[in-house]
Amino acid sequence: MNRADHIKEVINRFQSSFYFYDLDQFEVHIKNIKGTLHPDIKVWYATKANPLTEVLRILNKNGFGADVASLGELKQARTAGYGPKDLIATGPAKSKSYLAGLMQAEVQAIVIESINQLKDLNEIAGKLGRTQEILLRVQLEWDDDLKSVLGGSSITPFGLGTEDWKEIDLKNYKNLKVQGLHCFQWGNILDIEQLEKVWDHTILECQKLSLEMGFPLEVLDLGGGLGLSYKDDRELNFSEVQDLLIKLKTKYELDKIWLELGRFSIGKFGSYFTRIVDIKTVRGKNIVVTEGGINHMARPALVGESFPCEAFMLEDSELTSYAVHGPLCTALDTLGEFELPMSLKVGDWLEFKRTGAYGFSESMPYFLCHDLVGEAIVYQNELMVPRMPKTNLEWMV
Ligand SMILES: Cc1ncc(COP(=O)(O)O)c(C=O)c1O
Repeated sequence: MNRADHIKEVINRFQSSFYFYDLDQFEVHIKNIKGTLHPDIKVWYATKANPLTEVLRILNKNGFGADVASLGELKQARTAGYGPKDLIATGPAKSKSYLAGLMQAEVQAIVIESINQLKDLNEIAGKLGRTQEILLRVQLEWDDDLKSVLGGSSITPFGLGTEDWKEIDLKNYKNLKVQGLHCFQWGNILDIEQLEKVWDHTILECQKLSLEMGFPLEVLDLGGGLGLSYKDDRELNFSEVQDLLIKLKTKYELDKIWLELGRFSIGKFGSYFTRIVDIKTVRGKNIVVTEGGINHMARPALVGESFPCEAFMLEDSELTSYAVHGPLCTALDTLGEFELPMSLKVGDWLEFKRTGAYGFSESMPYFLCHDLVGEAIVYQNELMVPRMPKTNLEWMV
């Protein structure tokens, strides 16, 4: 069966909105990244992008580590087969019990984002009689006054500033071993020159900080940020990214570089499908209302950027402009303005592409008590349904 046949089968079975992932193409992409990787560059998968078990399994099988940001993500990665040495933990909210859970799971490194995390982890490690490897997360100042989902130049809860870190004395944390630093403030970068600018500044500042704090920078974790375009055909080429990393590694005599990839790994290989429940023209504007919207895929409302949209299996070559809205009673439920076939009608299906990352996992499913979205995958050319859609009766209490 080809892709369209698989999708038609899911439509027939679900009769409700769903995500569809092509995990065969995903695996080819992952193997391409991994196959050419320099031994001093390690790739971790940012589980938050898409925590589906089969996605994690494929990444694990192909040598990606996993970066988790909650106990739920930790459990999910363990279920998918991840061993402790292939796990790291990032995130600003690490309670004592979560830190204890991470130590119990024996994750390879914990990224420390506050003094409280440092104190709590040191105490937990002491009680267990173990030494835990950590990275300190740094938040740098930037000349550019730009915004980014990761904060950009704004002050955020992700890590601490260089001056804040310098105030601590690492000798007071004898149960922790600082492996290096973590710094990630700019998301979805599509331009290799921009990556170079960001990474060059990051490496320079991190190197200065490690020298001043008196530990060797064995690892520098540059986080994610490799982009995926939602507007045009621009693509980052991973071998160019790797050449850039090797150039910077040589320039600064770095030891190990880590990346945590989210969007760049899985984003391209997922689509969200929903059907049209109404079409109307309001004060001269064509409006389509869909069965699912930001309840299944909140990113357009959160960052103001649409996923690309096409009508599924409609041949009409005459296009016109439509504003597409989801079902929620808020103007926030706007999925974008798109050129779609003139012949579009109620019951037709729309496909939102490149929703493999920050689609399902970044949604607001409960507002207005609609059905919960399903998920289907094709892997080794076989259609599988890890998650059936749930009708509202199945989850409301
Ligand atoms: C700590 C951390 N690492 C990695 C990522 C993945 O970023 P991206 O999807 O840009 O690769 C995120 C995303 O928010 C993150 O918070």
